[in-house]
Amino acid sequence: MSNLKIHHIGYLVKKIEAATQTFEALGYQLAQNIVYDDIRKVNICFMTKDGYCIELVSPTTEDSIVSGLMKKYKNCPYHICYETNNFDQDYQELQENGFISIDVPTPAPALQGRDVVFLTNALIGMIELMRS
Ligand code: NI
Repeated sequence: MSNLKIHHIGYLVKKIEAATQTFEALGYQLAQNIVYDDIRKVNICFMTKDGYCIELVSPTTEDSIVSGLMKKYKNCPYHICYETNNFDQDYQELQENGFISIDVPTPAPALQGRDVVFLTNALIGMIELMRS
């Protein structure tokens, strides 16, 4: 899994447009406008600052994939996404090393349709793996 590269930090926000403006006030720039992910029922946009990329994720319905997390944690960072050019092997190795897959690899409309999958680990919580 040595080829994992940090792609973004996922950030839960309740009001995505207002949150975008607040991040802009902190010096972030919008890197990709708001996209609706109809698989996960969330709005997503990307912002960058100082070489860091954050992904703002906001549930649009009560049954969205992050609605439960939003209730529990409110507005907060909640995953780091790792990009890999060796997706299938890394996905396998993570599962052999204490990471439990919590969904199946699914195309992400906000990431040019690239496959992503979420895994959770007892010691570090949730990560996202993305196909380069
Ligand atoms: Ni993400």
